[in-house]
Amino acid sequence: MNIPHRERARAFLAEAEMLNPGPWVQHSLFVAQAAEAIAEAHPHLDAETGYILGILHDIGRRAGVTNLRHIIDGYTFLHALGFEDAAQISMTHSFPVRDIRVVNGQWDCSPEELQFIEAYLAQVEFSTYDRLLQLCDALALPSGFCLIEKRLVDVALRHGVHEHTLARWRGYFAVQAELEAAIGASIYSLLPGVIENTFAPMQVDPKTM
Ligand SMILES: [Fe+2]
Repeated sequence: MNIPHRERARAFLAEAEMLNPGPWVQHSLFVAQAAEAIAEAHPHLDAETGYILGILHDIGRRAGVTNLRHIIDGYTFLHALGFEDAAQISMTHSFPVRDIRVVNGQWDCSPEELQFIEAYLAQVEFSTYDRLLQLCDALALPSGFCLIEKRLVDVALRHGVHEHTLARWRGYFAVQAELEAAIGASIYSLLPGVIENTFAPMQVDPKTM
């Protein structure tokens, strides 16, 4: 795998936090912890690789407060350094379904960049690490691990739904089923604090009710 070592990945995250501080950093640390734990239980994955890919999956947020363009910013950053496998995760982690229409959030990149992302997705072969990071991104809040269903509903309440929302949800459950079949257990059995974090008292913005 063409990825940096753990310490360098952590240094990239620390640098990115200085450039653009925010809850995305804690989210990334929980994604890394989840990817490490699930990879450890998986017959074909390496825990250290899972951790490093988790640390770096949102590194494009170093470029500032952006929406979906963080995926191409992360790709460009890691690709320029030669870390092609980490760059791939930056591009694929938002696509449990390989379709640029099946996303949450806004495309805030140029038409040329969007074309590049579309072409990249059309040719890339999803590895089990791509699937792992898609899953972990959906279950890690800045405060810890969470039932995927709760996170999906929370996002829908905040940002609304569209004609592809159910396809996206089904995509996440397909990834979960794939990984659970491989590890022979519930992913949640590997995530400390998931029950407490999922069932913590609700904080709902009255505007969304
Ligand atoms: Fe993320």
